[in-house]
Amino acid sequence: MDAPRDSRDEAPAGARQLRRVRDAASARVGLAILREAAAWAAASGIAVWEPAELREAEFEAAAAAGELILGFEGASPAATMLLQSADAVYWPEAEPGSALYVHKVAVRRASAGRGWLPRLIEFAAQEAHQRAIPFLRLDTVHRPKMQAMYEDLGFRVLAEEPMTMYGRRIIRLERRA
Ligand SMILES: CC(C)(COP(=O)(O)OP(=O)(O)OC[C@H]1O[C@@H](n2cnc3c(N)ncnc32)[C@H](O)[C@@H]1OP(=O)(O)O)[C@@H](O)C(=O)NCCC(=O)NCCS
Repeated sequence: MDAPRDSRDEAPAGARQLRRVRDAASARVGLAILREAAAWAAASGIAVWEPAELREAEFEAAAAAGELILGFEGASPAATMLLQSADAVYWPEAEPGSALYVHKVAVRRASAGRGWLPRLIEFAAQEAHQRAIPFLRLDTVHRPKMQAMYEDLGFRVLAEEPMTMYGRRIIRLERRA
């Protein structure tokens, strides 16, 4: 399922593609996208991630575990997410194998507004299909705009009180893969 490691340089200029990356350098690329996105959001008064949630060692481990996805425009990294098989923090009660969990979604500002969010979710859905996993799940800070973006992609908010994490109100969403 993985693209060959060296396929990045074969993409025609401007071609958009997503793939799993496993090496430490790619983990740092993903982290840089997330940090840029977090700084951009913070400048608009939107707190997305705490520094403690963006640690290099954890990203290197996630990449090595096959959880890190990068999106490229030609050879340039444009977007990222973590795609995980379990989420003990936000979905501790979930049945094993019932979902893929989408985390740490971000797009570089230079690539914003180009459809990366639906592309990332479609990648997750395709992988879930391939693995016969029925649901996609994610959590996000309770904000109308972010909620609406995910609802437009077929997610529904769980009917429950938002939970509090790092002082933020977090909602959980899921959709059929
Ligand atoms: C969420 C994201 C991947 C969407 O990328 P995109 O589809 O290219 O869309 P844009 O970046 O152009 O953002 C679309 C709108 O959502 C808003 N938005 C982005 N992140 C937001 C957030 N976390 N909370 C509320 N609004 C947000 C933007 O301000 C923009 O608003 P506008 O339409 O009034 O200009 C990207 O905005 C991003 O990286 N955001 C910061 C990180 C983040 O919030 N990740 C999701 C965590 S669940």
